[in-house]
Amino acid sequence: MSAQLPEIRRYGTAAIAAAAAAIRAGGIVAVPTETVYGLAADARDSRAVARIYAAKGRPSFNPLIVHVLDLDAAEALAVFDGDARALAGRFWPGPLTLVLPLRAGAGVASLVTAGLDTIALRVPAHRAIRSLLAASGAPLAAPSANASNAISPTRAEHVAASLGAAVPLILDDGATHAGVESTIVAGRTILRPGPVTAEMLGEVLPVAPGTTAHVSAPGQLATHYAPRKPLRLEAVAPEVDEWLIGYGAVAGDDTLSAAGDPVEAAARLFDSLHRADASARARIAVAPVPEAGVGVAINDRLRRAARR
Ligand code: TXA
Ligand code: MG
Repeated sequence: MSAQLPEIRRYGTAAIAAAAAAIRAGGIVAVPTETVYGLAADARDSRAVARIYAAKGRPSFNPLIVHVLDLDAAEALAVFDGDARALAGRFWPGPLTLVLPLRAGAGVASLVTAGLDTIALRVPAHRAIRSLLAASGAPLAAPSANASNAISPTRAEHVAASLGAAVPLILDDGATHAGVESTIVAGRTILRPGPVTAEMLGEVLPVAPGTTAHVSAPGQLATHYAPRKPLRLEAVAPEVDEWLIGYGAVAGDDTLSAAGDPVEAAARLFDSLHRADASARARIAVAPVPEAGVGVAINDRLRRAARR
C-alpha cells in the first residue's frame, strides 16, 4: 500500500462526476449516506466488490447492503411481498434496509450476498449517494467506510483516519445525519436496530426484535453460504473424486486466481464454490491461499465452509 493520502473532495458536480467515473472503472469511493459514510462499489462487478473487502481488511465476507435510487430499481434486484412494499412505501428513501429474496438474474455479484439467496437493499435519502447512484447508473454495494472492527465513520476525516490510502477518493459532504447504521428488517424481524425504530415500524407492521441481532459481528452470521459437499483445504493436488479449486501455481478444475492475486480470488470465491458444488465430483479441495490482505477473509470463509 502506498503512503499517499486519500483524495477528499467536497460534494459538488465535479466531485460526483469524478466519483462516478471511478465507480464505472471498477473502483471504490467513500460516500456519505444519511446514516454513516459508506465504501461504495458497483454491486454487479465482483472485482470492484472484492476491493471493498480488501480496503476494510474484513476478516470475513459478511454480506453487504446494496443501495439503489428507488423502489423500481430495488424490485429489479429482489422479490417484494406486501409487507416489504408497505415498509418501503413508508420509509424509503431513508435509513431502513430490507432483507429480501434475491431475484433470479439480478446480476449482483455473489460476493455481495456472500452466496446467500437473499439480498439486503436500501434506498438512501442523502444527496451525495443519490447523486452518485444517478451519475454512475450502478447499484452500489456499500458497507460502512471503516476498517473492520472499527467504529462507523460519520465524517470524511473519520474515513481518512480509518482507511487511509486504501480508499483513493472520499466525497465530503460534512457530518452524516443519523450517525448509526440503518435498521435492518427481514420479514417481520428486526435484525439490527437503527434510526427507524421498532415503534415506527410497528405503525406499518407488527415487528419483533430478532434473535440474530448482531449479524454484523464477524463470525456470527449463521446463514453464510457453505457448500453441501465435504471440503478439504491446503490441497496441492486433487484426490480421486475431488473438484480442485486452484490458486496461483496450483492449477485446478477452476482457479481463484492464476496470478495469485487475492483481490481477484475474493471476487471469484463464492462463484467457484457454487461451481464446485454443482460439479459431478463428490468432494471439493481448495489450494492454499496466503494468509495476507484479503486472503485472511478468504481463508476465514473457507475454514468455515470446511467445518460443515
Ligand atoms: O446505514 C447503513 O446501513 C450503512 C450505510 C453505508 O448504508 N451500511 C452498513 O453496512 O452498515 P455494513 O456492511 O456495515 O452492515 C451490513 C449489515 C451486516 O450486519 C450484514 O450482516 C447485514 O447487513 N446483511 C447484509 N446482507 C444480509 C442478508 N442477506 N441477510 C442478513 N443480513 C444481511
Ligand atoms: Mg459496519
